[in-house]
Amino acid sequence: MNIRILSTSPLIGPHVKDLGRDFPESRIAPYRSAAWTEALPGAEALVVLLSEPLTEMDLEPCVNLKVIGTYSVGTNHLPRNYCDARGIRIVNTPGVLTDATADLALTLLLALTRRVREGEALVRSGEWKGWAPDLLLGSGLAGKTCGILGSGPIGRAFARRVRAMGMEVVFWDREDTGEPVDLGAETIRRLPLDDLLRGSSVLSLHCPLTDRTRGLLNRENLALLPEGAFIINTARGGIVDEKAAIEFLHCGKIGGVGLDVYENEPDIDRQWRGAPRTVLLPHLGSATRETREEMSRLLCDGIRNVLTSSGT
Ligand code: GLV
Repeated sequence: MNIRILSTSPLIGPHVKDLGRDFPESRIAPYRSAAWTEALPGAEALVVLLSEPLTEMDLEPCVNLKVIGTYSVGTNHLPRNYCDARGIRIVNTPGVLTDATADLALTLLLALTRRVREGEALVRSGEWKGWAPDLLLGSGLAGKTCGILGSGPIGRAFARRVRAMGMEVVFWDREDTGEPVDLGAETIRRLPLDDLLRGSSVLSLHCPLTDRTRGLLNRENLALLPEGAFIINTARGGIVDEKAAIEFLHCGKIGGVGLDVYENEPDIDRQWRGAPRTVLLPHLGSATRETREEMSRLLCDGIRNVLTSSGT
């Protein structure tokens, strides 16, 4: 049987069954396994995860390929220009993971600023001696400024959350337009990157990884942040110079870092594990059952549309 839909992992939710019924010629084979490689030439649709980059070389044998579905909103792991040139459609999952990701960014921010990890560990250790005026003091957020990189849906959803907590918000995004950002109830200023960094006690990243944003938070830019600033990254690891961030954590220049994403996942820089004042999560931004099912639905619908509209 010629395999038409080749996925690297089983997806979640009821929509997958329907797609399998419509296209029984589907197979799951681990990314870059022998079975996957063998099925590539016949495949009309590939489904991959964000941790499974596809190169032009991977796609060269895919002579029948019409669509690539990625179980993510980010598409930085796919060769966009090459796909455009060959007329291969890319289906990703925008919109449905906005709230889940903004919630997780807020979780990281609160866990970091209120020292949740240390408090938890203290209680579990049996060493807690009781309430004390100076026990595990954190940092308040109301009245402070949160700089947000990226004014797309997730950046705006995060802005609404921290506004509700009394923070001031400013945006930067890669188009560098001076236009204010519309949050519905209010509009928010956009600033040049330098100005935003100089004034942000909290910096949260919500922009995609592109040629423009790769390494954007280099040592020089990180140094512009106020002493003790907090950084939250639920976007992509490659936006931040991780070595510089770790160094700034050790010397106290950066007050804390909350991460859900890393430059090399899951083989993260070992120094993160020993870095002070960090909260480290394993890329859970979209990880709610509701969200993953919706992502699945978008993928299945998108793939079905391409395969049926191409008349096959
Ligand atoms: C998560 O990082 C995504 O791109 O969906």
